Amino acid sequence: MDVMDNVTRIGVSLEPELLKSFDLLVAQKGFATRSEAIRDLIRNALVQESLSHDDSHAVGTITLVYDHRHGGVKENMMEVQHQHHQVISSSIHVHLDEEKCLEVLVVHGTVEGIQGLVKDLTNVKGVTHGQPVLIAGELSEHHIH
Ligand code: NI
Repeated sequence: MDVMDNVTRIGVSLEPELLKSFDLLVAQKGFATRSEAIRDLIRNALVQESLSHDDSHAVGTITLVYDHRHGGVKENMMEVQHQHHQVISSSIHVHLDEEKCLEVLVVHGTVEGIQGLVKDLTNVKGVTHGQPVLIAGELSEHHIH
């Protein structure tokens, strides 16, 4: 069977300079072919487009770093996470060193809901880092509590 079954070929016209830059990107990122690179770029663009809508569903993680010795930070982090419990599926806590804690939350919900959680978490004093990584899509109903 031809592995390229169910694929439509399209032609793309590019200015020489743009093509040169694109080929450089393909090489730097280690794509096997231009087609693979273009597919990846299109998928990313579609995900970004979907994530630009507040009511879109997303899954992902929020990576946090905080100083556990900062007054009230643990209690405030706990409070915020309970307020947003519907959005949080799971969490991992790692003690990085004497002061710093790394916490990764696995999240699902609307983009608006997740961004609200990110905002509240990063507003907690003592939290030095709060970075969401979201991808478009929903967990299957089976996994939503
Ligand atoms: Ni810790």
